[in-house]
Amino acid sequence: MIYIIIPALLIVIGIFVYKESSGYRTSEYVLHTDKEIPGTVRFVMLSDLHDTDVTHDKNAKLFESVAAAEPDFVILSGDMVTSYTEKKVRDSAAFDLMSKLSGRYKVYYGLGNHEQRIREDERRFPGKYSEYESFVKGLGIEILSDTYTDIADKNIRIYGYDIPMEFYKRGVRKRIPEGLIEQTLGAVDERKYNILLAHTPDHFEEYSEYAPDLVLSGHLHGGIIGFPGIGGLISPQLSLFPEHAAGHFHKGKTDLVVSRGIGWHSIPIRIFNKAEIVVITITQESRGNTDGNQC
Ligand SMILES: [Fe+2]
Repeated sequence: MIYIIIPALLIVIGIFVYKESSGYRTSEYVLHTDKEIPGTVRFVMLSDLHDTDVTHDKNAKLFESVAAAEPDFVILSGDMVTSYTEKKVRDSAAFDLMSKLSGRYKVYYGLGNHEQRIREDERRFPGKYSEYESFVKGLGIEILSDTYTDIADKNIRIYGYDIPMEFYKRGVRKRIPEGLIEQTLGAVDERKYNILLAHTPDHFEEYSEYAPDLVLSGHLHGGIIGFPGIGGLISPQLSLFPEHAAGHFHKGKTDLVVSRGIGWHSIPIRIFNKAEIVVITITQESRGNTDGNQC
């Protein structure tokens, strides 16, 4: 009997894990602001594509899902590629998606640890980052690497912070020194709605001291396995039950939205933790925040 039950159980578990790890959802957040913005502003955030062809059609269906949200613009919050991928830029799933997105939307791109690693390790990845950067810029995508840009008609400023690699180290959580973010990016402009792209949410405390209105992060892939009511299991830095694995958080003046990511790398498993497109609406209407509604 046991020879039937155990294989049957393994098959059921295999099907369950496969189904949980496949596909994606759209998660919606509505955030209130007192800042002067024209009506409502709606945008899509995609994080941690890791060069995945999510919909197995050169990301065509994924692009249609983004378009269905009718965003004003699109934000890429890092790790669109994976540093150990040996593909040429133009053969990549990241190329397919970014080409489609930039053909219809203004796209803003904050770097993740994988892009930074490619850029900083010239010996291991000779010429790869400059090829990648010129391709992305050639599409008209704005890379925000330790700089900011204004969306004047929406009174929004977007900052992209390249978190120094020492703050990604495994096993230790080293605090970003006080004042370093402001030294890098300049003070936030209080008259504008300020969005900070900071790839890992592990330093939310330091980001909240910089005091933008909103921080957008990813990196943790939702913690791989989600425990309802507790959160994600593990971070890429190998810390268990990271505080900000996914979802909406608030500290001081600052909201934080963390994406579960849209792609996969290394461990292609997700349980109770669907890949996601994040749609964020910012409004002056005071009906309160809406968190992570799935649609
Ligand atoms: Fe990352």
